[in-house]
Amino acid sequence: MRGKQRTRVGPLASTGESAPALDVDALLDNPATEIIVCCGSGGVGKTTTSASLALRAAERGRKVVVLTIDPARRLAQSMGIEALDNTPRPVVGVQEGTGSLDAMMLDMKRTFDEVVESQASPEKAKQILENPFYIALSSSFAGTQEYMAMEKLGQLYRDAKKSGDYDLIVVDTPPSRSALDFLDAPERLSSFLDGKFIRLLLAPARGPARLMTAGFGVITNALTKILGATVLQDLQMFVAAFDTLFGGFRQRAEKTFRLLQADGTAFLVIAAPEPDALREAAYFVDRLSGEDMPLAGLVVNRASVAPPSELGADEAMGAVEKLRRRDGEPSVTAGLLRLHAARTRIVEREAALRERFSVANPRVATAVVPALSTDVHDLDGLRRIGGLLAGEAPSA
Ligand SMILES: Nc1ncnc2c1ncn2[C@@H]1O[C@H](COP(=O)(O)OP(=O)(O)OP(=O)(O)O)[C@@H](O)[C@H]1O
Ligand SMILES: [Mg+2]
Repeated sequence: MRGKQRTRVGPLASTGESAPALDVDALLDNPATEIIVCCGSGGVGKTTTSASLALRAAERGRKVVVLTIDPARRLAQSMGIEALDNTPRPVVGVQEGTGSLDAMMLDMKRTFDEVVESQASPEKAKQILENPFYIALSSSFAGTQEYMAMEKLGQLYRDAKKSGDYDLIVVDTPPSRSALDFLDAPERLSSFLDGKFIRLLLAPARGPARLMTAGFGVITNALTKILGATVLQDLQMFVAAFDTLFGGFRQRAEKTFRLLQADGTAFLVIAAPEPDALREAAYFVDRLSGEDMPLAGLVVNRASVAPPSELGADEAMGAVEKLRRRDGEPSVTAGLLRLHAARTRIVEREAALRERFSVANPRVATAVVPALSTDVHDLDGLRRIGGLLAGEAPSA
């Protein structure tokens, strides 16, 4: 299977373009779908898509929990997840039925703390949690948020299996610059902790003092001068304490990786209809396939809406030219025609970009979601986006 594209949705309708249409409802209704991960580069609509899919799935009868990351304030308010307490809470306003929706917002630091507490003895955990390097790492290390999102997913999955509270977990991913960051985060974190510099600092904490070489003494002396003795001690203590948790961290990361590769997982790559975003989406599609992770499809979000007229851009500009020759001066009609031509060209350019993507990735099913005229900040907005994702007509 490795290297081949794994697609998981059922019947694929045609969109009129080369890409097969993504059948979102088939994905949501399939009881075998247990995890949906929405990923993509910064600002493309990952949080909005995750919340919309979760709501739609719940209103179609699934027992859903959505793990969101830094949702916009108003959206968080409308989903009742303003409190950053790592606890899924029922969303008020979900249409009554057999399904249910709980939502939570990832508290990165608390998730990290919980991992430490579950891995170390209470005494050691306390030492780690109070260490300034731990505090810095757990709240600001590049990749920590990504790592913790995956950690939380693992926890939610295990709990859901045990309690039966949820049969679908929808996961939002952090606002990374690159869509690939969250796949790389566990590795990056462990290679940081495994790194040469850290090993070097760790040496005296581990072995008997006589093993310390003269060379190492010089380095620690220099560092003591630069950082101060307490800082160095803190760092050494932190690394030594963390070292015992290493195996645990690695193992958990590997477990989560396997969960992401499982058949019950579906990745959706979200992209804006722009060259950079689609290029990044293409990398991501390759990477998922390289990692043997199941891709459900691509969501092109905030697509421009075609003007309600069959008039082509060139025809419109031809008419502008005729008006100019006839009247000699600009008119409102000419202005409107120009606007129409510009909008039509944007729509055509976006269609060409999507076409290029689907020619290069012919098996990737695609959903195109138009840009709404306002932000999406309440359940009605999410419901609307959910409908658009499922291919319903915009007015529905
Ligand atoms: N189809 C859409 N139409 C109109 N507005 C949208 C649409 N999709 C998303 N938005 C708006 O775009 C903004 C960014 O969306 P969102 O927060 O979901 O992106 P994100 O990928 O999660 O961003 P980040 O990378 O910062 O986490 C939000 O204000 C959201 O309401
Ligand atoms: Mg987001």
